[in-house]
Amino acid sequence: MEQLSSSSVQDAYNTINSASFSQRTSLSFNVVNRVGVLKECLEVFSNCGVSLAQIVSKPCINSGYDFFVEIDSEVPEEKLQNIVHDLEATAKCTKVTVMGQQDFAKLPWYPQKISDLDLFSHQTLQYGSELDADHPGFTDVEYRKRRLDITQIAKHYKHGDSIPRVEYTKEEINTWRIVYNNLTSLYKTHACTQHQRIFNLLEEKCGFSPDNIPQLEDVSNFLKQCTGWSLRPVSGLLSARDFLNGLAFRVFHSTQYIRHHSKPLYTPEPDVCHELLGHAPLFADPDFADFSQEIGLASLGVSDDDIQKLATCYWFTVEFGMCKQEGENGKREIKAYGAGILSSFGELEYCMSDVPKLLPFDPFTASTTPYPVTTYQPCYFVAESFESAKLQMIEFSRSLNRPFELFYNPFTQTVDKLDSVEVIAKKIKLVEHQLSSLSSSLLKLATK
Ligand SMILES: [Fe+2]
Repeated sequence: MEQLSSSSVQDAYNTINSASFSQRTSLSFNVVNRVGVLKECLEVFSNCGVSLAQIVSKPCINSGYDFFVEIDSEVPEEKLQNIVHDLEATAKCTKVTVMGQQDFAKLPWYPQKISDLDLFSHQTLQYGSELDADHPGFTDVEYRKRRLDITQIAKHYKHGDSIPRVEYTKEEINTWRIVYNNLTSLYKTHACTQHQRIFNLLEEKCGFSPDNIPQLEDVSNFLKQCTGWSLRPVSGLLSARDFLNGLAFRVFHSTQYIRHHSKPLYTPEPDVCHELLGHAPLFADPDFADFSQEIGLASLGVSDDDIQKLATCYWFTVEFGMCKQEGENGKREIKAYGAGILSSFGELEYCMSDVPKLLPFDPFTASTTPYPVTTYQPCYFVAESFESAKLQMIEFSRSLNRPFELFYNPFTQTVDKLDSVEVIAKKIKLVEHQLSSLSSSLLKLATK
């Protein structure tokens, strides 16, 4: 079958999306919980002479309630604008969004199931078999040929395949050993406890050692058992949108080749040392796994501006994040969890010095903070915990300009679009059912 280009994929999905639009207009809005607020909202609609077909509410994660309403007829644009204005001005609603036909038509394409990643995972922008003139391996013909061979694995990979093993050469293992020994000498004092704990498990179960470069397939299987995350081989750098979209399905795109042996402690690009020593351990931690997926889910179908904001949040967390944790003497300590730090001996030492500025993690601030890519970071954002960072990311993703929310189904590894009141009502019922099962389990536990 001919491989679809990005634009034809976009066109195909626009057609599907357009065909499935409801003719009814839906709105969503958030209200602070106070007496009479629902009455005020409903009056906005009745004052405009509009009747409602359905209304559904769900508690918001931080405060108040989200309402989803479906209007029982087609409403002229001007009247809709009046409704939006009155909901904001009179009923003090926030995040008022019209879930209309036009908004959906403009949405960028996004993967809806995990196998959709096959449509773009080969479309790399940089590196892979091509190198910049300042890359340490640029003039090494043998090194370039070796990279080309390894990237063939990623180019032929499809979702569901086992990741073919690479038989690394003595020279490659030697480079790995130098990196491994350098970094592990600092992990005990500089890395967060989650990274340290899981690193020990990776040494035990996945062949992490100075003398062996672990195989992506083994690490991926380990992650699947821990949190449902998996690694997918990639031949170079993906666009920010494609890379972040993969995270929504708990998939991390990972390179398989190694940096040039002439500079073992430097690489201008991600390589297998960065992926396996820096990234892989944290994806086995349930809270970090959930947090990272939230960035991915937030990236599906949003504008290029919002992708830029999310990529910046990713940079300041998954790549260069620091976090608070309990130290041995009960004091709160600050440690590194970002893979960019954990795979750089120099930056690991630097981030714990007095030089960089440390700021409390806040995605609204982090998303617009500029950063350098070729020097150590002048500032780091410090998360209270991965759990709290996840809640902050959920709140941030609600501020992005997407006229619907998405529901990830872990059983089918698909995302469902919450674009109609009916679908939302069904999901609320499902969650209520799960909550009631959990409450029963709690009661049973309490009466034991
Ligand atoms: Fe990375």
